[in-house]
Parts: sequence; C-alpha cells; structure tokens
Amino acid sequence: MTVFDKYADNYDEGHVKAVAMSGFKPDYFHEYKFKELVNFLEEVGLVNKQIKLLDFGCGIGRSVKYLRKYLPKVFIYGIDVSVGEIRVAKEKNKNLKNVKFTSFDGFNIPFKEKFDVIFVANVFHHIKRNDQEKVLKNIYNKLLDNGYLFIFEHNPLNPLTQWIYFRNDFQFDKNSNLLSHFRTGKFLKKVGLANNEIRFAIFFPQFLSMLIPFEKYLRWLPFGAHYYYIAKKA
Ligand SMILES: C[S@@+](CC[C@H](N)C(=O)[O-])C[C@H]1O[C@@H](n2cnc3c(N)ncnc32)[C@H](O)[C@@H]1O
Repeated sequence: MTVFDKYADNYDEGHVKAVAMSGFKPDYFHEYKFKELVNFLEEVGLVNKQIKLLDFGCGIGRSVKYLRKYLPKVFIYGIDVSVGEIRVAKEKNKNLKNVKFTSFDGFNIPFKEKFDVIFVANVFHHIKRNDQEKVLKNIYNKLLDNGYLFIFEHNPLNPLTQWIYFRNDFQFDKNSNLLSHFRTGKFLKKVGLANNEIRFAIFFPQFLSMLIPFEKYLRWLPFGAHYYYIAKKA
C-alpha cells in the first residue's frame, strides 16, 4: 500500500490546501501542463492525429478531462503504482472510450504498445533515487521512435516551492525528494534522450495574474515553481 492509496478518495482536498498560498485552485496547476503539451504538439503537427499517450503515474486520472478537451482523438493509457488511485481513476472515467487504466509494479510498463507521447507529471520525486534511472530507461523503451517524453517536476530552486515542501503542505510529499532540473537532465542524457529542451513555468501568483501572458518569455529562467523537459527519441 502506498501513501497515495491512503489519500486516493480525498486527494483533491489536500491539494487545495497546499497551493492556497499561490491564490490559485489546483485546476490551474493541472491545466497549464496540458496547454503547454498541446501547444507543443500543435507545433509538431500531432494535435489532430490518433496518437497513443501514456500517462505514467496518472494518479486518479485527472488528465483525462484535459486531454479529451484538447486532444479529442487521443488514446489514453494511464498507469500508477497506487491500486487505490487506479480504482478512483476507473470509476471517474468509466463511460469513456479509448481510455485504459491499470496499476503496475512501478517498473514494468504493462502494455505491449509503444507510445507517441509519454506524459509524467510530478511523479519522479516520489521514486526512490536509486530507482529513477531504471524507471526512466523503461519509459524510454516504451517511446516510439520520434516520440516525445514530457516530464514535469516541482522546481527546488523556487523559494515558494521550497516553503510549501518545508511546511509539508502536501502530506503525500512527506517521503519524497525534490528533483533538480540538473539531475533530471543528467538522467535523460544517460538513458538516450539527449535531444531535449527544458522550460521553466509558473512564475506569478494569482494576484499578479495580469503578468501570466509574459511567462512564456521567462521559460529560460530557472526559478519558476515548475520545470518541464520535452525530450525526443531520435
Ligand atoms: C503527485 S502524484 C501525481 C499524479 C498525477 N500525475 C497528477 O499530476 O495528478 C504522484 C503519483 O506518482 C505515483 N507513483 C509513484 N511512484 C511511481 C512509479 N514508480 N511508477 C508510477 N507511478 C508512481 C504515485 O502513486 C502518485 O499517483
């Protein structure tokens, strides 16, 4: 049983409390990732294709509503180590076509398919340090040639991120280790994903929301609350 099994039924409540300081609701933090993903897929001509997307560490399947909104033709595969969260994900999305959820051991991705896109949001800081490279290698093996990996993480260089982490506002982050973009970049290179780009995101709290349209010009600045890598399997 993982800590996420314990919070599976009220995961969203914990999240509301943890991000309250920013002035935003959790939806803001979830949705921006999909907007970024879709903007990129639009640039590379994949938005209207029937792509297969693996949501690795999908939790309670929150991605489905955004993926359906922005990528109506996508086939979604969600996996997680938390049996409790997968149960909730299945219940929430039971009437949807082209959506599959399954729990697994955290290493061996239980699908014979390979994927056009693998999406990993805030998962790696929950994986034991010694296992991170092995898990990333397994993800690499499941990417199609020319497929893309999107990996989002909290940025330890952001003071607010550190503060939330220090206060232990995310109860389920208790046994996790924030992962620097340097370390993530090093692993990506090591497993064969050297063709990658890093972007920093989420710079302004809600009371400065008039500045949010300018965040795209700050992607290079390593102090956003989150960062993400886009890596292409060449
Ligand atoms: C902070 S939650 C993020 C959930 C989801 N990606 C989201 O953004 O809503 C981290 C998730 O990673 C999962 N997780 C931890 N270790 C994992 C592993 N080795 N493989 C897959 N999922 C894992 C946890 O069970 C949990 O659901």
